[in-house]
Amino acid sequence: MPDTFDALHLTREGDTDPAGDPDATDTDDVVRSFSELATRSAADWFSCFGGAPVATTLAELHVRPRCFVHRFTLTDGTSRRDVVLKIRHSDATLRRAERFDGRPELTPQRTISDRDSARCELTGLQQVARAMEGADPDRFGVLRALGWLDGPAGIVMEYVDEPTLRQQLVRRWRRAPLRHGRPGRAEQRDEDRTWSDLGEWLRRFHAADDGRSLPARMSRRDELVDFVERARHFLLQAGAEPGVVSGLATTVVERVERVFPVDLPTAAGHGDFTAQNVFVGPHGRITVFDPLPLWRVCVYEDLARLTMGMRLLGPQVLTHGRLLGEDLCDRWEARLLAAYADGGRPPADQLHVFQALLLMDRWGELLGKRPARGRARQVSRRVRVHVGSGWYERQARRLSSLLA
Ligand SMILES: Nc1ncnc2c1ncn2[C@@H]1O[C@H](COP(=O)(O)OP(=O)(O)OP(=O)(O)O)[C@@H](O)[C@H]1O
Ligand SMILES: [Mg+2]
Repeated sequence: MPDTFDALHLTREGDTDPAGDPDATDTDDVVRSFSELATRSAADWFSCFGGAPVATTLAELHVRPRCFVHRFTLTDGTSRRDVVLKIRHSDATLRRAERFDGRPELTPQRTISDRDSARCELTGLQQVARAMEGADPDRFGVLRALGWLDGPAGIVMEYVDEPTLRQQLVRRWRRAPLRHGRPGRAEQRDEDRTWSDLGEWLRRFHAADDGRSLPARMSRRDELVDFVERARHFLLQAGAEPGVVSGLATTVVERVERVFPVDLPTAAGHGDFTAQNVFVGPHGRITVFDPLPLWRVCVYEDLARLTMGMRLLGPQVLTHGRLLGEDLCDRWEARLLAAYADGGRPPADQLHVFQALLLMDRWGELLGKRPARGRARQVSRRVRVHVGSGWYERQARRLSSLLA
């Protein structure tokens, strides 16, 4: 095995399959291309580097379903900085396959090449930086894009040594037995502020780009109804509890007419506004990353993706809500909405309609994806589906009653 993999921290994430690990030769090529770029650019990226040659080392490689995330260390012998190089891939062996044809998806995958997606993410990072101009830097961090690696089409960016919001939420569970799950008062204040700040962040991001130059997706009321009907059909076919699914679908379709105009309020969407894509720094400071503003979408989609994502976090599903109590989720959601509305009426009904769409989308994924290869993964999928279905049904009932 070539040198690149010696002493390298290699991890596989999501449902990646070991058979799909990156080829060592490809990784060697990436390391070589990156080193050349870093040698030329390190002094532009970081003012601590001057004329002395800068050496680069690949310290970590995360193999993910849709990208490789490399962490490189740069040093000139005196100063040291870490950077991330993200390279997208379309290696199907690194993703879970579908069990059924034609699963309805809220966001169609892979409509553009990996290179164009990477370009779009770079544009997104620059857009975030513009949207956050003038905002309080103690509350809003900005992940600086440093450069572009041509060839494998990768984005070079600053390394952020902070946990993601998802990691922070999941940690509550790990420490629960010791502290009865309750963070201290100051920590709770920081957590609450994070959710208000996420609302303000999204308001600024949506205000910065109305998305007129982007293709529209789910931007009309009839598209919502169409998605709900297709998702209802799919979920029933895939074995979801018929009464709960139909009850939710019928309620949403009725409610959509009353809540929304024909054309929905839209903006350029973040693309994946979730707890996985937010770093949380000191005193709850947020740095949102991993943008892919490919579409003009209804503004409630981003709000729902974050909040429904929180309610459907893996440990939340598996423990049937013991990770985050219902009251806590409601409180954070209310803070998010109030900050997004900025003094206006918090759009609760609109959020709940979009949460229902997100729930149906994720439910379809739960039932419709094959496990990665290996017996242990097949067993774990069966457990996930069995335990998960009960929690998804509970979420469906919650939304049906809120929207009734
Ligand atoms: N700049 C960074 N600094 C520190 N860690 C990072 C950085 N970028 C990514 N990571 C780590 O890698 C993980 C995956 O990165 P990212 O969210 O960009 O990719 P992804 O979600 O797999 O890809 P996709 O863009 O296809 O959704 C992050 O959750 C984070 O842990
Ligand atoms: Mg991500």
